[in-house]
Amino acid sequence: MGPFSAPPCTLHITWKELLLTASLLLFWNPPTTAQVTIEAQPTKVSEGKDVLLLVHNLPQNLTGYIWYKGQIMDYHHYITSYVIDPETIIFGPAYSGRETVYSNASLLIENVTRNDTGSYTIKIIKRGDRTEGITGHFTLYLETPKPSISSSNLNPREAAETVILSCDPDTPDASYRWWINGQSLHNSRTLQLSKNNRTLILFIVTKDTVGPYECEMKNPVSSSRSDPVTLNLLSELPKPYITSNNFNPMENKNVVALTCPKTQGYTYMWWVNGQSLPVSPRLKQPSINRILILPNVTRNDTGTYECEIWDRVGSICSDPVTLDVLYGPNLPSIFPSLTDYRSGQNLYLSCFADSNPPAEYTWMINEKFLQSGPRLYIPQITTNHSGLYRCSVRNSATGSERSTFKTIRVSDHSGIGHPPGLNPIQ
Ligand SMILES: *[C@@H]1O[C@H](CO)[C@@H](O)[C@H](O)[C@H]1NC(C)=O
Ligand SMILES: *[C@@H]1O[C@H](CO)[C@@H](O)[C@H](O)[C@H]1NC(C)=O
Ligand SMILES: *[C@@H]1O[C@H](CO)[C@@H](O)[C@H](O)[C@H]1NC(C)=O
Ligand SMILES: *[C@@H]1O[C@H](CO)[C@@H](O)[C@H](O)[C@H]1NC(C)=O
Ligand SMILES: *[C@@H]1O[C@H](CO)[C@@H](O)[C@H](O)[C@H]1NC(C)=O
Ligand SMILES: *[C@@H]1O[C@H](CO)[C@@H](O)[C@H](O)[C@H]1NC(C)=O
Ligand SMILES: *[C@@H]1O[C@H](CO)[C@@H](O)[C@H](O)[C@H]1NC(C)=O
Ligand SMILES: *[C@@H]1O[C@H](CO)[C@@H](O)[C@H](O)[C@H]1NC(C)=O
Repeated sequence: MGPFSAPPCTLHITWKELLLTASLLLFWNPPTTAQVTIEAQPTKVSEGKDVLLLVHNLPQNLTGYIWYKGQIMDYHHYITSYVIDPETIIFGPAYSGRETVYSNASLLIENVTRNDTGSYTIKIIKRGDRTEGITGHFTLYLETPKPSISSSNLNPREAAETVILSCDPDTPDASYRWWINGQSLHNSRTLQLSKNNRTLILFIVTKDTVGPYECEMKNPVSSSRSDPVTLNLLSELPKPYITSNNFNPMENKNVVALTCPKTQGYTYMWWVNGQSLPVSPRLKQPSINRILILPNVTRNDTGTYECEIWDRVGSICSDPVTLDVLYGPNLPSIFPSLTDYRSGQNLYLSCFADSNPPAEYTWMINEKFLQSGPRLYIPQITTNHSGLYRCSVRNSATGSERSTFKTIRVSDHSGIGHPPGLNPIQ
């Protein structure tokens, strides 16, 4: 038998009545320090939901209540007020249309937005009280959303690019924390956290610092953690090299194809003698393709060639290769043009034909071999040095041979005097 199930004649009191009595007793002896407290229901509220700010320890004998947004109790921050007798509800400038004040002073906020977070003040006015009244404060936080990590660059070049990670969304009154590989992150030589820890700057990303990264968003009512994010390192660009079907092609004969190694995701650029390759209808897809085709190569295509590969981040050039176009010989020319000589003079002839490699020269007179080499020198010629001189040039690489003829007439010493200006070496 419990103490409260005694026979009805004696005490006639129930458990409920006892509680009521206790509260009445409490009322009759009111603690002067009774604090008005405010509690949010539910304690975790997310955007778009409703929240009720419940007021506890409300004193008796009240005239009404005024709710303010923030801590400043002025007209500008005045949301709504409730006057008890006669029951009147008044709206102030800070009223959004979503607040409802109840007779028990509680404030319902519907469809909560981010702007509704922050502090609220209630002013409770007692009947006949000429003082400021009683105030209560509350700070409303929204439940933190699940954050996500955004990166300025998910594929940074190894040891070359700075990456900025952000913990989104930017939520007021939230604090942020970061982890790499489950380890809490702190500022260091290679990384820097922003003042509120929401963004993280990675100055250098290496294999050891690709992640996974996680961030946490926290406020006094909740905390949430992002999914892990791992960066995908872009390896260094491989240095390209040029291959060719022919580095010594023959002019107007060979087609030359210069090839840069095939690699995914790169664009190609060609350089000739240090100049980016001009667009020319002669060239097949010069700057896009990794294969540079020079149809009917000419001597003007001689030079150094470089292939440059590009990706999003940078570029690297191959070593230069030299294209040495073999050509010629051109039709040779014989100098000087003078044809009439006198016996006793020196005959000095030179022959030149453009050719790559340089031509081999042969001199003949009347189809008889005289000598090799581009210059012919015969001192003190006689009349029998007259004849048809021939300079033959031959390019051993192209196999071509060409000749030029020149008639030289040598007159006898007697008969003609020295032509003015000519002073042959005797
Ligand atoms: C006050 O009134 C509201 C609305 O009727 C109610 O939900 C709440 O439980 C009441 N109690 C307190 C302590 O505010
Ligand atoms: C309420 O106010 C009236 C008049 O001012 C006073 O007589 C009464 O005692 C008060 N009651 C309480 C519970 O404070
Ligand atoms: C809250 O949002 C719902 C749905 O958007 C809407 O029907 C309702 O009227 C809103 N309530 C207030 C007080 O704005
Ligand atoms: C929050 O307040 C700002 C500035 O007062 C306003 O521009 C914005 O529309 C508000 N947002 C919501 C969801 O009410
Ligand atoms: C930022 O993060 C560091 C390390 O986790 C922590 O010590 C610091 O208190 C945080 N700062 C802020 C403003 O949250
Ligand atoms: C290459 O040049 C030769 C001689 O000039 C010419 O006959 C030939 O048609 C040319 N070929 C191409 C592909 O231009
Ligand atoms: C080479 O270039 C020069 C100057 O542009 C031009 O005069 C010449 O005709 C070209 N030679 C050949 C074989 O294309
Ligand atoms: C040139 O003529 C001279 C006589 O005048 C003769 O002796 C000599 O052999 C000749 N030389 C040649 C290369 O024919």
